[in-house]
Amino acid sequence: MIILGIESSCDETACGIVQDGTELLANAVFSSMDLHVQYGGVVPEVAARSHIESITPVINQALEEAELTWDDIDGIAVTYGAGLGGSLLVGVMAARTLAIIKNKPLYAINHVEAHVYANFITATSLPDYILPSAAPVFPCLALIVSGGHSQLALFRDHFDYTLLGQTQDDAVGEAFDKVAKILGLPYPGGPSVGAAALRGNPYAFQLPKARMTAVNPVLQDLRAQRSDRSAKNSEEFSEISYDFSFSGLKTAVLRHAQAMVGKDFTFPSKMLPEALNDAQKADIAAVFQRIAIETVVDKAIQAYKEFSPASVVIAGGVAASPELRRQLKDRLPIEIAYTDPKLCTDNGAMVAALGCFKAAHNQPTADPLSLDIQPNLSM
Ligand code: KG4
Ligand code: ZN
Repeated sequence: MIILGIESSCDETACGIVQDGTELLANAVFSSMDLHVQYGGVVPEVAARSHIESITPVINQALEEAELTWDDIDGIAVTYGAGLGGSLLVGVMAARTLAIIKNKPLYAINHVEAHVYANFITATSLPDYILPSAAPVFPCLALIVSGGHSQLALFRDHFDYTLLGQTQDDAVGEAFDKVAKILGLPYPGGPSVGAAALRGNPYAFQLPKARMTAVNPVLQDLRAQRSDRSAKNSEEFSEISYDFSFSGLKTAVLRHAQAMVGKDFTFPSKMLPEALNDAQKADIAAVFQRIAIETVVDKAIQAYKEFSPASVVIAGGVAASPELRRQLKDRLPIEIAYTDPKLCTDNGAMVAALGCFKAAHNQPTADPLSLDIQPNLSM
C-alpha cells in the first residue's frame, strides 16, 4: 500500500510518499517561511499564493525522489483542516483533481492527527533521517505542540482516541513566536528564543503558570467509565484539566520586559527590542522558555500518571525543542523515541502515513467531487 500525502495547511507546501504507514519513500517540502520572516508571522495571502506556485513541482519532486510513477500510487491523502483557508484550498483542490484524473481513492486527513502519525514512520532508505526503531504502542499518550496546536490526546488504538485537553487561546509555538517579537528575535520564535535562552538564567525571575480548572465533557465521560474499575485512582485526578493557556504568559513577559526598562504598560512593545540589553533579553527568553515548556510537561506527566500509557509520542514543531526533550527526560519515567525534526514540522509524509492506516483499516474515503476544507477542524 503506497499513499501519496499532500500538506498545505500553513506555510509549507509538502508532498510525502509512504508505504504501509511505516516506510518513508519521499518527503518533499517547500517552505514559504522566507517570505514571512519580515512580517514576524505567516501572512495567509502570501502563503496561499506560494502554495499555488509550488504544489505541482513539490508533487513531481516527491515522485522523482521515490522513483515512482502514478501507476505505483494506491491512494492520495490530503490535509483538509485545520489550517489557513486559502492554504488548505490549494492542497485539497490539487488532491481532488489528481484523484479524479489518476483514478485513485482520496483520504481526507486531520492535520493534528497526522502530526501524531509521523511517529509511525520507522524505516527509510532516504539519507539523513534518524527515525524511531519501533512504532508507538497503544495505549499511547500523544502531546502535539506546534505553532498552531497544543493538544494532549490518548490513543487507545488507530482511530480510537480521546482528546484530553487543548489550548484555550494561543498554541505553545505561537507563544514562542510572540515572545520572539517582543524581544526583537527572528521568526520563528522557537529556535531563536531557545538560542537566546542558552545565554540567560532560567530562574532570574518568576512568571505565572496558567491554572486551568474546567474539565471538558469528553474527559469527564472517560473518567466516569474508568471509575468503575479504579475508583480510588480516579478520585485523585477528577479535578485535573488537561487544557492549556499561553496568552497570559505572553502578557506577563511583556509586562516584565516593560518593568525591566523602567516603564509601565503604556510603553509600546515595538520599542522594547531597542530598550532591552542582551543580558535582559537572554534572561527573559530563558525564564519564558522554562515556564512555557514546564506548563506543557506538567500536563503530560499528570496524564501519564492518570492513564498509564504504554508509550508517549511528541509531535509538532515544538517537539524539536531541546528544553522540552530535557524536561521530559528528567521527569517522565518512560523513554520517548523522537522522530526526525524534518518529520516534526509540517510535512506530507505524516499525511501519507495516516492515509496508509486509513486505507488499511477501511476508513471511509472522501468524495473527490465535493471534499471541502475545514479550517477550524478539531481533533
Ligand atoms: O508543526 P509546525 O511546523 O507548524 C504548525 O503546524 O504550527 O510548528 C511550528 C512551530 C513554530 O511556532 C516554531 O516557533 C516552533 O514550532 N518551533 C520550536 C522549535 N522549532 C520550531 N519551538 C521551540 N523550540 C524549537 N527548537
Ligand atoms: Zn502542523
